Amino acid sequence: MAQPVEKLLLFGATGDLSRRMLIPSLFGLHSDGLLPDQLTITGTARSEYDDAGFRDFAAEALEEFAPADRMTEDNVAAFLERLHYHALDASSQHGYDALAEGLGDISGGLAIFLSTAPWLFGPTIKGLQGAGLATDKVRIGLEKPLGKDLQTSCEINDIVADAFPEERTFRIDHYLGKETVQNILALRFGNSLFEPVWNARGIDNVQITISETVGLEGRAGYYDEVGALRDMVQNHMLQLVSLIAMEPPAHFDGTSIRDEKVKVLRSLRTIAAEDVGHHTVLGQYGAGAVAGKIVRGYDEELEQVSDTETFVALKAHVDNWRWQGVPFYLRTGKRMAERRSEIVIQFKPVPHSIFAERGGMLQPNALVIRLQPEEYVRLLVMAKQPGLDREGIRLREVPLNLSLDTEFAGTQRRIAYERLLLDLIEGDPTLFVRRDEVEAQWAWIDAVREGWKANGVKPKPYSSGSWGPSAAIALTERDGVTWHE
Ligand code: BG6
Repeated sequence: MAQPVEKLLLFGATGDLSRRMLIPSLFGLHSDGLLPDQLTITGTARSEYDDAGFRDFAAEALEEFAPADRMTEDNVAAFLERLHYHALDASSQHGYDALAEGLGDISGGLAIFLSTAPWLFGPTIKGLQGAGLATDKVRIGLEKPLGKDLQTSCEINDIVADAFPEERTFRIDHYLGKETVQNILALRFGNSLFEPVWNARGIDNVQITISETVGLEGRAGYYDEVGALRDMVQNHMLQLVSLIAMEPPAHFDGTSIRDEKVKVLRSLRTIAAEDVGHHTVLGQYGAGAVAGKIVRGYDEELEQVSDTETFVALKAHVDNWRWQGVPFYLRTGKRMAERRSEIVIQFKPVPHSIFAERGGMLQPNALVIRLQPEEYVRLLVMAKQPGLDREGIRLREVPLNLSLDTEFAGTQRRIAYERLLLDLIEGDPTLFVRRDEVEAQWAWIDAVREGWKANGVKPKPYSSGSWGPSAAIALTERDGVTWHE
């Protein structure tokens, strides 16, 4: 078992992720006594703060993003005590010796978290190496984006691997920190009910939707470079596919689970250039109304014309025995009708309906795993409506409902980064993405992009507040499948 570290070093400490997620998450862990007592947190970035300035920055972040019931004066003060700051231009090799000196003795273990632009990873790793901050007592956490295609991802992974072996490299995909995502494992492997039908014989199709109502949110520079496919599908959605489709691992540990996930990622059928027209749909939002609010179109928000997709829908296949012939429909987009992350397992219809002759209509069963905004697992089953049935049997689809929100009402809910930062500090790699996974993900995504390029595929417009371009509906309807609503 890895030992918890005594020091945490945050690169990009004054950035948006740090303000919104990392500092509040560390505060949450601190408040519950989950951080090692002696843990100090050193922030670093270019801003010319000192310790006091950084503590003020953190205090403001907590005011805005931490739960009010944790914000007692003593608790906040004790947390801020842990914080230190060291100004550094990560791109220049000069400041690293001073950084190492400031950190002092790292023999009790150091976790470094890089939440910076990926082009800084190279100089940062080099600087850390040069200053003796890449010893076997050090582990490193990496925030996305890890490259923009397979090649750049390999370059980053090579640079990191030069200083940190894989077992001390922790690549974040924050979806893996979400409670309901981890619950997929409990559902599949903690129950005997599902596994016998969890295959091409029992399942007709799988649908994964991550729809967002937000637009660019001040991230135009990043987002317009990558688009929805690389921002969401390459990482979060393919990770969900791997958890849904993986074989049962022999153990609950980082190696066993990731071994099974990577097999799925490697079994994804490459979407050939001649198939991109049929298997993928790109969209870009125009003006419209989201939740009653009028919003601008993408180009207008960006203040220039762009071909970047803000929506993508895909039909994927996992080519192995278990999943032969089962389509995995994925869709994600910005400025859509509602915020929803959801996996729907659509089971096969019954082989023969005895109810049809009595007027009863059947819907195939479905298992709905809602990740957000609510957290629930719902099994949709057919039930007979009460009555004497003199005019025929009436059947209705009803949910067997496991609402995590109500069932575990007294249990504290944590945001994904709390879990992931604690795992980084304690050295548990299970919920982090291994190099072979990232590279298999990129290889599949690159082929889609090459197909788009070869065919000159451009995004189709859709109105903000809708479910994407109508072609996304046609993508499933062609197969006789309707997106779950
Ligand atoms: C990030 C993407 O990885 O995930 C964002 O870069 C997106 O564009 C976000 O908004 C969605 O995360 P969540 O947890 O809000 O579903």
